[in-house]
Amino acid sequence: NNLKLNLEGVYPFVSKEKVFAFKAKVEESQRLLHSKTGKGNDFLGWLHLPSSITTEQLNNIKATAESLSQATEVVVVIGIGGSYLGSKAVIDALSNSFSQLLDNGAHPHIVYAGQNIGEDYHYELLQLLEKKSGAAIVISKSGTTTEPALAFRLIKNHLEAKYCKLVAKNRIVAITDESKGALRTLATQEGYTTYVIPDDVGGRYSVLTPVGLLPIAVAGFDIHELVRGAQDMEKFLMDAPFEENPAMQYAAVRNALYSNGKKMEILANFEPKLHFMTEWWKQLYGESEGKENKGIFTAGVDFTTDLHSMGQYIQEGERFFFETVLSIAKTKHQLVVPTDKDNLDQLNFIAGKRIDQINKMAELGTKIAHIDGNVPNIHIEIPELTEYNLGALIYFFEKACALSGYTLDVNPFDQPGVEAYKKNMFALLNKKGFEKEGDVLRKRLGI
Ligand code: PA5
Repeated sequence: NNLKLNLEGVYPFVSKEKVFAFKAKVEESQRLLHSKTGKGNDFLGWLHLPSSITTEQLNNIKATAESLSQATEVVVVIGIGGSYLGSKAVIDALSNSFSQLLDNGAHPHIVYAGQNIGEDYHYELLQLLEKKSGAAIVISKSGTTTEPALAFRLIKNHLEAKYCKLVAKNRIVAITDESKGALRTLATQEGYTTYVIPDDVGGRYSVLTPVGLLPIAVAGFDIHELVRGAQDMEKFLMDAPFEENPAMQYAAVRNALYSNGKKMEILANFEPKLHFMTEWWKQLYGESEGKENKGIFTAGVDFTTDLHSMGQYIQEGERFFFETVLSIAKTKHQLVVPTDKDNLDQLNFIAGKRIDQINKMAELGTKIAHIDGNVPNIHIEIPELTEYNLGALIYFFEKACALSGYTLDVNPFDQPGVEAYKKNMFALLNKKGFEKEGDVLRKRLGI
């Protein structure tokens, strides 16, 4: 295990004893998880997912990625929530920051759809696909989610009009339930290549299924290494005792801070490529724990960017949160600050230093400032942004999330609250079966 969890920045606020007081409860959570006897135990397919993926399965996904990439400039990944955040997190973390403006060689550009209902967004996407050769990966576990279904209708329509139905069929891959849902029916009817999201893997825990692996492979990244990292982390976390187990300790410290009045966790990074890793993490923890009027609210910031926006609040606003810094020890490239003989910008004091040295000093300086501002600080470090390390990080966060949710006594694998907005939207759109609710809502809204 090369992931480091450092809790020294927590102990000035919640003592080590108080954190370790959660050890027994977290161990009980782990027992429930491993014995599959806890809440939501029909959704534990992710637990041994890394060790159960075979090389043949990975090779098959890679082959599909290659055939989808042929003569394709843009692959649209259509999905929402857990059906897109994992792949976006990994692809962004590994990609060149300007990849959308560069020629990616054999690998198409990846864009997303179905993660919003923006008319302009989807109109402009179709305009793009008019100019570029496109393909689509449509992902929906339920096969009935409105946003991706809507986007797919638009894109299917477009591809069929542009290429003819037969050619379009080979430019579409569907990832959905084995037998249920409208997307499964549609995919069978149209004869698409399909992959199955296992019944016992929930959306936000699905990045290591074809949901995440196919888009990541299309983007040209090594899914074997990603899975290998997750496998090693799975094995390590299974056996490590609490004292050496970062997932158990992260679950414990979160619960200790929460019971001490810290209702929000801010995940902070100092690497712009991690923006969507934070979005993935936000969903994983927010949707898993925020229920029964309980749970830590998950927020995210990109530093140093957001030190110039949310930095003021974090330093001096209300004290109801803690901060978790996700730190990357080593950058991919090296860049040194040049010396300037005139020194008009007065930056010669950092001349000769690597940019990352400056970033690391910003990170340390921020840590101390925020601790001085009474913000408890958790520090998670991985060696560098590689497929292997990201696979390990993803599995670490998933396991810790399940343990943390059980420790909070909630079911970390359901999301009943997501239905409320859907019901109202269907009623307002006059969907069959929602007529009565529609009348009530229109009256309330005065429309
Ligand atoms: O974690 C979850 O289960 C959700 O965020 C889903 O991923 C999201 O709602 C999309 O659902 P589906 O894949 O069924 O379209």
